[in-house]
Order: sequence, then C-alpha cells, then structure tokens
Amino acid sequence: MTHPSWILGIFFVYAATVQINSPPDPPCGSGNLCKALCTLRNYLNFTNRRTFMSYNFPLNYTIRVHYEEIFRFNNISQLRSSVPDLPEENLQELWLEVYMEVLKKVLKVLPQKHPSHKYTFHLEKLFRDVQQISSFQMEHLAQIQKILANMKDPNTKMWKSVKPKALMDNCYRTMHCLFPHCFPTENKQADYCSFHYWKMSSKRPKNLEGSTSAVMENDRQPPTRHGRK
Ligand SMILES: *[C@@H]1O[C@H](CO)[C@@H](O)[C@H](O)[C@H]1NC(C)=O
Ligand SMILES: *[C@@H]1O[C@H](CO)[C@@H](O)[C@H](O)[C@H]1NC(C)=O
Ligand SMILES: *[C@@H]1O[C@H](CO)[C@@H](O)[C@H](O)[C@H]1NC(C)=O
Repeated sequence: MTHPSWILGIFFVYAATVQINSPPDPPCGSGNLCKALCTLRNYLNFTNRRTFMSYNFPLNYTIRVHYEEIFRFNNISQLRSSVPDLPEENLQELWLEVYMEVLKKVLKVLPQKHPSHKYTFHLEKLFRDVQQISSFQMEHLAQIQKILANMKDPNTKMWKSVKPKALMDNCYRTMHCLFPHCFPTENKQADYCSFHYWKMSSKRPKNLEGSTSAVMENDRQPPTRHGRK
C-alpha cells in the first residue's frame, strides 16, 4: 500500500520549511556569550536595520544623542593606543553600555504603535540578554568611568544629531570588531575593525552588510556643537 500523494505532501512541507529557513544564519563562535551576540547580530541584519531604523522614519530623521553615544572604530583604536594594557573586556562593556543607552533614546521617540517600536523593544531585550550573560565584573579604568559618567550627564552641552540607522550601523560593526571570535569567517584577511572590510563587503552582492555611507559621512563631518539651552 503506497500513498504517493501523502509522500508528496511530506516533500512539500519539507520544501516549504527549507524555503522559510533561508537564508541561513552566518556561523557563530562557541559559548553562551557568542550565542547571545549572534542572536543580536542576526536580528540586527542589514535588511532589518534598513527597514526599522531608516525606512520607517521620515527622510533624514535624526535623534539627539550625547557625543559619547557615538562609538566607532576610531574610539576603539584611540582608547587602545592611549590606555596601555586596556583589557578587552573594558571596551566590550563600554560598547554594551553605550548602545543600550542609544536604544533607550531611540525607544523614547517611538510611540507604541510605531512600526519600529516592537523591533526596537525586542532589540533592547536582546542587549539585556547579552548583559546578563557577560556579567562583566571588571573594575572600570578611570578613562572608561569618565566616558560613562559623561554619557549619562543630562546637563551636558555635547549633543549631536544622528540618523538612527547610522547609530545602529556603528553598533553592528563595532560589535564585530570587539567580539571577532563570535563571528568566524572564512575570509582570513577579514579585519572587522577596518572601514575597508565593510566597504568591500558592501560590494559583494551576497553580503548586504554594506552601506557605509551613513557612517563614513558621519566620520568626515566635524561634530557640530549645539548646546542645550
Ligand atoms: C534578517 O532577519 C530577518 C528576521 O529578523 C529575516 O527574516 C531576514 O531573512 C534576514 N535577512 C537576511 C538578509 O539575512
Ligand atoms: C536629506 O539629505 C539629503 C542629503 O544631505 C538631501 O539631499 C535631501 O534634500 C534631504 N531631504 C530632506 C527631506 O530633508
Ligand atoms: C568617540 O569619539 C568621539 C570623537 O572623538 C567623541 O566625541 C566621543 O565621545 C567618543 N565616544 C566614546 C564612547 O568614547
């Protein structure tokens, strides 16, 4: 007794599942922290960043953030060169604290029914998951303490207006730079901490993590000072 239609049915269910599951997630390093970071990475993919941090906002929409909430490659290299023996965990924790603060700022401008609210809310949860797993117990160095204090100072005059997608692009890239072991790649030359890498990957059609323009633009502009009156 054979049931060809039944077998065909299984095949279609299988085919549909494979269809839904593509594209596959990029590879991930081992350990719980990497797992949490990779979940975040997958959720922060280019398509989502573009939809939820750009397309859903009015053209050229910006959010006012503290200077310290703009955390880019040059911050990492500056800190590495100015603080000898800076533990990598200090930079990783700074990254986490900065971007959790950034997400709070984004959430603040989003009404609950805004099409990006749910996404951003979940993103914040994924950051809290990372925080819980990482549970950095490091003593903060004076330099890092100062940055964190400035970032949380509501009376600062150092504000900058930045597009939400530019902030999250920086978040995505600096995450790769600071946790490279979690994002293994076959490209031996890959240097996640260089602009060159992201510029090249934007030219490869299969890797849609490019679109450096927002970040590059920001980097070229000298920060404008508009103090809070
Ligand atoms: C990005 O993530 C969403 C789910 O959050 C998924 O549906 C989509 O396929 C992903 N895009 C790419 C290019 O991986
Ligand atoms: C947005 O910015 C671009 C580039 O700076 C500019 O050409 C365009 O006119 C701006 N659009 C709006 C609606 O402000
Ligand atoms: C990153 O560098 C910029 C410009 O040098 C500075 O204004 C900002 O405070 C730095 N951010 C952090 C988190 O150190």
